[in-house]
Amino acid sequence: MDKKVTVVGAGNVGATAAQRLAEKELCDVVLIDIIEGVPQGKALDLAEAAPIEKHDARLTGTNEYDVSAESDIVIITAGIPRKPGMSRDDLLKTNANIMKDVTQKIVRHSPEAVLIIVSNPLDAMCHVAYEASGFPKNRVIGMAGVLDSARFRAFIAMELDVSVESTHAFVLGGHGDTMVPLPRYSTVAGIPITELMPKERIDALVARTATGGAEIVSLLKTGSAYYAPASAAVEMAESILKDKKKILPCAVYLEGEYGINDLFIGVPVKLGANGVEEIIQIALTDEEQAALDKSAGAVKELVEALKKL
Ligand code: NAI
Ligand code: 2OP
Repeated sequence: MDKKVTVVGAGNVGATAAQRLAEKELCDVVLIDIIEGVPQGKALDLAEAAPIEKHDARLTGTNEYDVSAESDIVIITAGIPRKPGMSRDDLLKTNANIMKDVTQKIVRHSPEAVLIIVSNPLDAMCHVAYEASGFPKNRVIGMAGVLDSARFRAFIAMELDVSVESTHAFVLGGHGDTMVPLPRYSTVAGIPITELMPKERIDALVARTATGGAEIVSLLKTGSAYYAPASAAVEMAESILKDKKKILPCAVYLEGEYGINDLFIGVPVKLGANGVEEIIQIALTDEEQAALDKSAGAVKELVEALKKL
């Protein structure tokens, strides 16, 4: 393949993302993990599936960063996931140390890459990667809004018994309990869901979306969601690799947009070959803006906590 993506963290999200990247034949994939044997074993297993899945993406598993040299994109999933009862924020200290270390190693070998951050707490980890990389803000992007919007879309489709393909949804804000699903901008075949279901049902779907990650954690008992998170990261990577310029909700560094400064938070952006090519500003009602401000406040608290670690 003429494109190369490195996935750091060969756990549930990382290995599933590697599988999806390869099976969509988007790029060659390097899978890195700190545990010896795991990335090598998973990459070999995926490579042995290639004749059946019919793709020619090369998969390499390694513990060494030089193999990742000149990646177009690096997806960082390294870290520990939530256990039942844990909030994403409980992960702050452990994952901040891992994120800093991994980012420094990655940028030495791929100084032109676009970084897609997945590890939690997501918005705070974007700050760590942004500072550790020294990259411009268009090349550090957090994955959360695509996942949260996909969950909202899935719930809308279940509720109305329609194809998920006819649904569209936007979830803005931080990737936490204060995330901001936007029913006004969430549609079925272009029709806002506010026209299609009563307010109590919308409120129920919004609440289920905001706690969507915890719902999976409580069912799995060990670990957190990974199929939908991997799909979300790969949708972002595909838009960048193919310069598709999709408009997707992603965590990006805001400098005044939506009245928010010096903070990574989820808003709609255009993703193309240069990473974030435009931050799309949509008009929010006072209530929506207040919810976004509240969510930004929660992210800011974590970023402040990071400074004290
Ligand atoms: P996992 O535990 O299955 O995989 C994490 C992998 O990272 C492990 O294989 C571990 O060995 C590796 N790792 C740990 N330290 C490392 C280091 N210093 N260098 C390289 N690799 C290292 O966890 P999973 O389920 O894949 O989740 C990964 C992260 O993604 C977690 O922080 C989780 O909370 C987060 N997440 C974020 C989502 C989002 O929407 N942004 C959605 C789902 C998960
Ligand atoms: C999720 O939303 C754990 O952040 C992860 O599933």
